[in-house]
Amino acid sequence: MTQPLVDPFQRAITYLRLSVTDRCDFRCVYCMSENMTFLPKKELLTLEELDRLCTAFIGLGVEKLRITGGEPLVRRDILTFFEGMSRHLDSGALKELTLTTNGSQLERFADQLYAAGVRRINVSLDTLDEQKFADITRWGRLPQVLRGIDAAQRAGLRVKINTVALKGFNEDELFTLAEWCASRDMDLTFIEVMPMGDIGNEDRLGQYWALSDLRSSLAERYTLTDLAERTGGPARYVRLEETGQKIGFITPLSHNFCESCNRVRITCTGEIYTCLGQEGHSDLRKPLRASGDDLQLEDAIRAAIALKPRGHDFDYSRQDVAGRVSRHMSHTGG
Ligand code: GTP
Ligand code: 5AD
Ligand code: SF4
Repeated sequence: MTQPLVDPFQRAITYLRLSVTDRCDFRCVYCMSENMTFLPKKELLTLEELDRLCTAFIGLGVEKLRITGGEPLVRRDILTFFEGMSRHLDSGALKELTLTTNGSQLERFADQLYAAGVRRINVSLDTLDEQKFADITRWGRLPQVLRGIDAAQRAGLRVKINTVALKGFNEDELFTLAEWCASRDMDLTFIEVMPMGDIGNEDRLGQYWALSDLRSSLAERYTLTDLAERTGGPARYVRLEETGQKIGFITPLSHNFCESCNRVRITCTGEIYTCLGQEGHSDLRKPLRASGDDLQLEDAIRAAIALKPRGHDFDYSRQDVAGRVSRHMSHTGG
């Protein structure tokens, strides 16, 4: 039997996040600069290569596969890839096939995603105010995303909203967002903003809204109960007793969750990043292309996981931004 993937800190790697494109139809201010240079298309792994790569990881024990970008649904013919992956759901080897999306293309693709076996998706949405939405995404339009969320729910997909907590931007929408999600039976997760990539003149420290503060604000209106349940991701959940809804907190800055990390990331060019918050990575494209069997590829995967660091070094204490990484979030897909 093949050995499962275990890193030097005895963490089993069962969750793969795959970025299928670095492109996006939005330009969120905390994620990208306005003038991004994208990779030439010929650099990307083909859909067949993405399939082979994921299949190899599933053979090595990966049970959860999350497709990210950029915006994954802007990659041409990406539904073919999802349809291919559904065979691993059918066989039982893969427990969950899911994606993180900005929602812009869901109106077109929700039914097909459901048909491919996707049951739960995460949609990034930071505000319910049309003007603020246009400001923060630069190119996005809120009504299009709301239509996408409608289509997803109609198709039977469970939707979780991901909101980056941004001081002075969506602080005043905390209850509006929570109530909107409750009314639509959607979970909501807040994320602390991480220092990733050069984003022009935006000020990371000024943007940072610690989720411990956000939680205290929520507790002024609701009774919060900590939940033990996990989805395999880094979020920790509470239930609001008054509405029954779940709220998640992803706190890379105020409370590090690296000790329980179970995931690795692959970029659209086949680089493996074993930590979102570190620069270290290795290439899987070369071993993938070197041979039609997967022996070299598996060796390269194991060698990369043997170098997985303990965790990230993001730190905003001391009134400075420490531990930043140079690549944009869209490179590794969040
Ligand atoms: P579920 O728990 O399955 O819903 O998903 P998830 O929370 O793993 O995935 P999602 O794509 O919703 O992740 C939300 C965000 O959490 C990501 O975009 C990242 O910003 C952050 N995140 C996820 N994994 C890590 C991690 O390993 N390290 C850090 N620092 N942030 C992470
Ligand atoms: N810090 C935290 N979250 C970020 N995202 C993008 N850039 C950052 C950042 N610097 C989020 C997006 C999306 C997910 C993929 O990552 O809003 O929810
Ligand atoms: Fe696109 Fe997501 Fe980055 Fe926004 S956060 S620019 S939607 S990749």
